Amino acid sequence: MATTSPSTLSAAEQNALIESSKRAAAYQAVKEHMEPSYRHIGVGSGSTVIYVVEALRDMGKEVTDKMSFFPTGDQSRDLIKGAGFRLQYIQDLPDGEQLDVCFDGADEVDEDLNLIKGGGACLFQEKLVATRAAKFVCVADFRKLSPRLGINWKRGIPIEVVTQATGHVLAELRKLGSIRPQARSGLPGKAGSVVTDNGNSLIDAPFKPLALSKDPTDEDGVDGVWTVDGLAAKLSSIVGVVETGIFYGHN
Ligand code: 5RP
Repeated sequence: MATTSPSTLSAAEQNALIESSKRAAAYQAVKEHMEPSYRHIGVGSGSTVIYVVEALRDMGKEVTDKMSFFPTGDQSRDLIKGAGFRLQYIQDLPDGEQLDVCFDGADEVDEDLNLIKGGGACLFQEKLVATRAAKFVCVADFRKLSPRLGINWKRGIPIEVVTQATGHVLAELRKLGSIRPQARSGLPGKAGSVVTDNGNSLIDAPFKPLALSKDPTDEDGVDGVWTVDGLAAKLSSIVGVVETGIFYGHN
């Protein structure tokens, strides 16, 4: 087997390796986790999901025409439409019904398959769609794996907040030990802060790397060190937090 160390490659070669890895992960995920009998498919956000949609389209129109595809934001809505798939929104899925599967990317994945998501600012709808799926498939290339959340992904945990509560949430995050949390600013050339697909603001909150799982003897939060589930619960309890980019328990 030939192996290549990404660090010895030129920028163009690294880019090509990353794209081919994303594509390979997407095709593998669809091959392993998609069934022609499925009817309701969740489609997440980000650049990897573009290849997921490509792989789904390769299943053939006679298969995909029997399915409905549920987006997690404006980007995946446009992807679904562009592929010629039937678009349906999660709020129109009847109560008690589930999606058969949801495919989505991630910013970082730890050894217990806990995730950080929201690098593209779509985390609330991503979590809603994932929660309503019988099977959640995270599609991630080699760059995303990390022993603990917060080691590779340095931008911090994305947190969607009601805009009026941004100052309050930032202050609470500092009390919990977050290192310089900040409201995410707009895209280059665009003034102001990021506005999510739900009309809210977004904060990126760096913490020390998160411990894998809750040990009852752990004192969560001591010296700013948190477990994945302990921090997720704490963040969700802050007034003004809509949702966090910590995904756990979806595997
Ligand atoms: C968007 C997300 C994405 O799934 C995550 O950022 C991964 O994106 P990419 O596939 O482009 O690396 O959570 O909010």
